[in-house]
Amino acid sequence: MFAPLQNDTFIRACLRQATDYTPVWLMRQAGRYLPEYRASRAKAGSFMGLATSPDYATEVTLQPLARYPLDAAILFSDILTVPDAMGLGLSFALGEGPRFATPVRDEAAVAKLEVPDMDKLRYVFDAVTAIRKALNGRVPLIGFSGSPWTLACYMVEGAGSDDYRLVKTMLYQRPDLMHAMLAINADAVAAYLNAQIEAGAQAVMIFDSWGGVLADAAFQTFSLAYTDRVLKQLKRSHDGALIPRLVFTKGGGLWLEQMAKLDCEVLGLDWTVNLAQARARVGGRRALQGNLDPHVLFAKPAQIEDEVVKVLESFGQPHLDAHSTGPTHIFNLGHGISQHTPPESVEALVRAVHAYSRRMRTGTPH
Ligand code: CP3
Repeated sequence: MFAPLQNDTFIRACLRQATDYTPVWLMRQAGRYLPEYRASRAKAGSFMGLATSPDYATEVTLQPLARYPLDAAILFSDILTVPDAMGLGLSFALGEGPRFATPVRDEAAVAKLEVPDMDKLRYVFDAVTAIRKALNGRVPLIGFSGSPWTLACYMVEGAGSDDYRLVKTMLYQRPDLMHAMLAINADAVAAYLNAQIEAGAQAVMIFDSWGGVLADAAFQTFSLAYTDRVLKQLKRSHDGALIPRLVFTKGGGLWLEQMAKLDCEVLGLDWTVNLAQARARVGGRRALQGNLDPHVLFAKPAQIEDEVVKVLESFGQPHLDAHSTGPTHIFNLGHGISQHTPPESVEALVRAVHAYSRRMRTGTPH
């Protein structure tokens, strides 16, 4: 049904197989730092106008690929589509970030929560299929979801938060309610990701953006355990191809050994982590993705190149043997790209990753 994959570098690196160079893509690569994205958004009227139209979603997903030789595309959508389908009433006011009309703050609200009918998210699956067709095998398409905990943060707070006071109040005061909500979120996320895989997603990523705000022990109980519950339910392959699963916990560096036990292929790391140490701690059992500080992109191209080299060197030589598996690295930022990033900076980054990582493999780095 879909064209064969021409550039499988990202998928191979996810599966800990040798590649000719280090693949690169960027979290939030389709977004406001691109003038063509801002133009599409103005035409569509709003962020959700883009996300709910398969044509617009395809257009903006492909925009960064038209500019840069990235090694993967990521579905244009948002993690908050799932709580929206649960009936919480998502809106994005310009310049204000997401907001829910009916946040989940008490027992009655939790009692009403259910795994949503996946038909309400049909627009996402239609977008996946449309993007996959438009990519025509150029690079793989990554589908995604928020983690159960990160979704709960928005569902309880009703918006972004500085201190997570409301969601942590529920966690400590009514852990029973928090567990009930997280169980529903996990089952909803699993159904959502499986439907993306069936629609054509070739890898899936779980964004645990706010796992790192939790205390030790609370992280394991309220974030990691439910990410695990999602992973256990995911399809391993589709149409004869393995579907790599990526987990990114921002601020999760302290818990890497525990995260390495998750049933997934790739762990995403933020910029606070040293990649050589992470590689040793994970013991080569998982591919690693990351971890350039997104603010490096505000420096000049020569400085960006230096910082890219530092990240590549910090991971060190990846696995090279074509007949076995071993430690591999996928280059990315440590979090989403800032909307204020100059587009030229991304060009310098992608060029440096490809060029230097090829030279590393042939032993001629300088
Ligand atoms: O990476 C990509 O290019 C794919 C698209 C994507 C978006 N959101 C588009 C978006 C992805 C993967 C996300 C994930 C997402 N959404 C996360 C997890 C990743 C992370 O950054 O930690 C989170 C926490 C959200 C929730 C969310 N959506 C917030 C907090 C905001 C507002 C803040 C902001 O950066 O604007 C959004 C809106 C949003 N999602 C935009 C985009 C391009 C900007 C909307 C606009 O056009 O105004």
